[in-house]
Amino acid sequence: MAYVIAVLNQKGGAGKSTLATNLSTAYARRGKQVLLADADPQGSARNWRAAGPDPGEHGKAFPDVVGADTAEAVETVTGSEVMGAFDVVVVDGPPGVSGSGPGKVTVAVLKAADLVLIPVRPSGADLWATADLAELTKARQGATGTPDAAFIVTQADSRTNVAEEIGSRLEELGLPVLQARCGDRVTYVKALGQGVAVEDIEPSGKAAEEIEAIIGEINRRFYG
Ligand SMILES: Nc1ncnc2c1ncn2[C@@H]1O[C@H](COP(=O)(O)OP(=O)(O)OP(=O)(O)O)[C@@H](O)[C@H]1O
Ligand SMILES: [Mg+2]
Repeated sequence: MAYVIAVLNQKGGAGKSTLATNLSTAYARRGKQVLLADADPQGSARNWRAAGPDPGEHGKAFPDVVGADTAEAVETVTGSEVMGAFDVVVVDGPPGVSGSGPGKVTVAVLKAADLVLIPVRPSGADLWATADLAELTKARQGATGTPDAAFIVTQADSRTNVAEEIGSRLEELGLPVLQARCGDRVTYVKALGQGVAVEDIEPSGKAAEEIEAIIGEINRRFYG
């Protein structure tokens, strides 16, 4: 059965699609059968794949990408048939919450996930916007014991210590914070726009190192 990693945060622009496309590609290049499920009606992950090269010509693997932006579609792509055909399913979550709470898609994704990764930019507004999702995740953990969950700091400016500051404030929300993080790097922007992974833009660059470190930490702590 596939291991389901959901990248969730209702805050727009937190870095969900950037993380989901790079992590799913990294697992595909480790020889895993990977499905990237695009739960965002904006279709960023689908557009990313459509902009990218043919894997045969490129010479390196990519995940299969499928749209799943309704609760029913999420249930289908995390149902036993699909789960049996893949090793890893990465879900690129949607932005936005309705006035009455988290969207149905987010709830369906939370139910299906083995691991929820919550990317957070180092700002107060991003931190506050994340508290509801942390509460919802902890409530589910309390009721069912799953999913595992962790924050990951994204778009961190290495010249300041705001990433460290936000890290300790995130811990107060009651979920662990990954040690690995994504710096604020143009390589991420280029890779998303060109339909590739950061290692395709800059093979031994800092962004590629960061994605390796994130995969290493996920495998060590959660998906061994
Ligand atoms: N680590 C990073 N460094 C620099 N720019 C980044 C980084 N991560 C994401 N970005 C840029 O920030 C913007 C938002 O990122 P992304 O689309 O991944 O966020 P998202 O959470 O999926 O947004 P949405 O909620 O709209 O789906 C994009 O232009 C992306 O290229
Ligand atoms: Mg997105």
